[in-house]
Amino acid sequence: MFDANLYDSNVAHWDHFARDLDKQPWGIVGMKIWRKLLPHVLKAAPFDKDTSEVMDFGCGNGFNSSLLVPHAKSILGVDVSSGMVDEFNSNMKKWGLADEGRFSAIRADLTEGGLDGKKFDIIFSTMVYHHLPSVEETTKVLASFLKPGGRLLIMDWIVGEEKEQYSEQIGRIMKVGGFNEEEMKTAFESTGLEFLGFEPAAKMDEMVGDYHLDKTAYLAWGGKK
Ligand SMILES: C[S@@+](CC[C@H](N)C(=O)[O-])C[C@H]1O[C@@H](n2cnc3c(N)ncnc32)[C@H](O)[C@@H]1O
Repeated sequence: MFDANLYDSNVAHWDHFARDLDKQPWGIVGMKIWRKLLPHVLKAAPFDKDTSEVMDFGCGNGFNSSLLVPHAKSILGVDVSSGMVDEFNSNMKKWGLADEGRFSAIRADLTEGGLDGKKFDIIFSTMVYHHLPSVEETTKVLASFLKPGGRLLIMDWIVGEEKEQYSEQIGRIMKVGGFNEEEMKTAFESTGLEFLGFEPAAKMDEMVGDYHLDKTAYLAWGGKK
C-alpha cells in the first residue's frame, strides 16, 4: 500500500525544513512534547545504558535520541530525509554525544529491508506514524527488526472526533490526524506483537505560530515474544 506522493512529499518537506527546525515553532513544540513523553518512554521499556541497542525510527534532527543517550548502549536513527539525517549526525557531534558512531543516523527506507540483519532491543518512533502510508505495514517491518523480548514504542497524536483542517503544505505530508487505542492495538497484534499498553502522555494546549495546538500525544507499546 505504498503511496509515492505521500512518501516524496515527506522527503521534500523534511529535507527543506531540517536545518533550522529547532528554531521553528513546530520544532520547538516538538522538543516540549518529547520532554513530556520521555518519562513514559523510560517506564515502558527496560533501557540499560550498558546493553540496550535502540532504533529511533523517523529520528528527525536527533533531539529525542540525545535525551536517551544516558540510557542506551547505542542508538541508530533512521529517517527517509537525508536533511534530517545530516542534522542528527552534526547535532550529535556538536553536543559531544556521537561517541564514535554509537549514536548516529542513516538514511534508509526500511520497507526495502536491510541494515545487514541488525536487530534492536528497543525501537521507538515519535510523531512519524501520521505521515506513513500504512501503519500496519510499518509496524510489521519494525517488529522484524526487534530481538526476541524487544520492545516497540510508538508515540503520536490521539485522534480527535472532529476532522481537522490543515494548510495545503501540511495536508500533503499527513495521512491522518492521529490514532486511537484500538487502531494501535490492531497494528501491533496483526504483526504478532503483544500489545502492552496505551496511555495519554503529553497534553498540549498552546499556539504554534497561528495554529492552536490542542491535542494529546499517546504512547503505545508492545513486545516481541
Ligand atoms: C514530525 S517529524 C518527527 C521527527 C522526530 N521523530 C521528532 O519527534 O522530533 C517526522 C519525521 O518522520 C520522517 N518520516 C516521514 N515519512 C517517513 C517514512 N516513510 N519512513 C521514515 N521516516 C519518515 C520525516 O523525515 C521526519 O523526520
